[in-house]
Amino acid sequence: MAGIFFMDNSAPIGVFDSGIGGLSVFRELTKVVPEESMIYVADSANAPYGTKSRRFITNRCRAISRFLVAQGCKLIVVACNTATGASISTLRREFSIPFIGVEPAVKPAAIASKTGHVGILATAQTFKGEHFRRSIGLYAKSVNLHEAAGTGLVELIENGMIDSPESRRLLSQYLMPMVDQGIDQLVLGCTHYPFLIPVIREILPAGIQIIDPAPAVARQTRKVLEQNNYLNSSGVKRQQFYTSGSIEKFTKVLTKLAGGEWAVNQLVESVSSD
Ligand code: DGL
Repeated sequence: MAGIFFMDNSAPIGVFDSGIGGLSVFRELTKVVPEESMIYVADSANAPYGTKSRRFITNRCRAISRFLVAQGCKLIVVACNTATGASISTLRREFSIPFIGVEPAVKPAAIASKTGHVGILATAQTFKGEHFRRSIGLYAKSVNLHEAAGTGLVELIENGMIDSPESRRLLSQYLMPMVDQGIDQLVLGCTHYPFLIPVIREILPAGIQIIDPAPAVARQTRKVLEQNNYLNSSGVKRQQFYTSGSIEKFTKVLTKLAGGEWAVNQLVESVSSD
């Protein structure tokens, strides 16, 4: 792109996910970059992404990124492992602002493991992603990985059924075979799953470490903002929320997870997915 481009550092950060999962990243961002304005988009009408094709996910990511850029965002956090794996290279190629992605934290888990067995719970699409396969090749050669696709968990979380008999049943089904293999690290490879940590802790034997990549993503966001001189120095900030699904449903879950009162807007589909 020709010409010199000046970004107003008070511009917001865009954060998006297929639904409410990215709020686990959003909450870390509010701690690590508390000075920033943020616009959160939940593509709830299209959740879950984990069972969709790469092409579908990329079209949605492109449409949401266009919307966030039109709102003036200076940087976008793709707060979704599935979307990162399927689309981040395309987004970085097509847009001129920085993108931060989320990937299963295989490297720290492999380093920390003493038993040599690491469990990963992620969506089926994340396991297929080239980023994920590459990280395994790079960082997890020395350990045995035990993968489980958390089919059905995202839908339960989206519906506020975090602590429910169904979530316990599915989690036991996915996690117990890894426990039997001797894992001492469990990588949460989907940004929805940190909301299940209290239930996961009850199921797992003591001593298994649960790894949520959100704090590392928030730190990386701060680093990129600093490198670009993008940290908000205006002293003014605001948070905005959009959903492509039901405002009522999203507001209810947002209030439950984040407390307080929030105004949620409808994501209008001028955001076409072509
Ligand atoms: N929160 C997501 C992730 O990190 C999306 C899961 C989904 O929509 O299936 O992968």
